Amino acid sequence: MQRLLEKRLVFVAGKGGVGRTTVAAAVGLAAARSGKRTIVCEVARQERMSHAFRREGAGFRETELAPRLFGISIDPDKSLEEFLVDQIGSRRLASLLFHNRIFDYLAAATPGLREMATIGKVWELAQLERRRGSDSPYDLVVVDMQATGHGLGALRTPRTFADIARVGPVRRKAEMIDAFLRDRGQTGVLAVALPEEMPVVETVEFAEALRRQMGLELDLTVMNAMLPERFSRADADAIEAIDGAHGAPAVAAALRAAVSEHHRARAQRAQLRRLRAELDGEVVTLPYLFQPDLGLAEWQRLSGELERRT
Ligand SMILES: Nc1ncnc2c1ncn2[C@@H]1O[C@H](COP(=O)(O)OP(=O)(O)OP(=O)(O)O)[C@@H](O)[C@H]1O
Ligand SMILES: [Mg+2]
Repeated sequence: MQRLLEKRLVFVAGKGGVGRTTVAAAVGLAAARSGKRTIVCEVARQERMSHAFRREGAGFRETELAPRLFGISIDPDKSLEEFLVDQIGSRRLASLLFHNRIFDYLAAATPGLREMATIGKVWELAQLERRRGSDSPYDLVVVDMQATGHGLGALRTPRTFADIARVGPVRRKAEMIDAFLRDRGQTGVLAVALPEEMPVVETVEFAEALRRQMGLELDLTVMNAMLPERFSRADADAIEAIDGAHGAPAVAAALRAAVSEHHRARAQRAQLRRLRAELDGEVVTLPYLFQPDLGLAEWQRLSGELERRT
């Protein structure tokens, strides 16, 4: 984790619902605690971060949520407008173009234009020299990625775009971003997985694709939501051996539940061993928190666990 916090840009990747937003928030909190000016970017317009900090509506603005911790929800259209301003060099002209219907046709005809603008915004946030001199630089940018293909498509966008553009300033910018993303000294990737068969398989596949297509390694993998192992095998065998049929039904049900959870926890450990065997990088676990909805307090707790365990 310490190595991860030394980077300028960290992507939190994973399939839908595995806990990307939770882990991105936990990493952001840990980084800010360690003294780094940090920003967590959401790319799916969910604004979960600002919501948890009761700063709803912060949206596309960089907003300080806690000391040294900032949040932003990256809007593809706003990013595109910014991208145009930079390329054209005039806000008025760019705005005129952007709000022209012809532009919609242009954008639709250029595959990946919005994705390019989005990753361009993330890259811009990670630069020591910001676009506007009045913006202060961040030490670390944490990106809560899209779920599709673990977000690998977004990382590949600048390369694809540079190839399409072939020449000119857009190509140069895309190549610059691509080089930054492939630089392990600057860019880190954290994968989030769940201790189940398919998520483990998908995480291993993601690590391979990341290496093949970007030349990057997973810097850290978080196995999220691990159930506690409450009993030793001997205890579990003893519980299972109790013939609950003669006791109170509630007791019998509780015993069955305990045994069933024990089996699930053991199956999860097996998946964890598999993941560790198949990945070269570090795999750290986070506990399942028995709470209906995780908020700031739980993120703080998971953030502390991450720090302790890595
Ligand atoms: N360790 C955990 N213990 C208990 N609940 C968790 C844990 N991690 C995540 N959750 C819960 O699981 C749900 C999904 O987590 P989260 O939103 O972080 O995942 P995500 O990968 O960002 O999902 P999405 O694909 O919808 O963006 C949330 O309700 C979250 O509070
Ligand atoms: Mg999310």
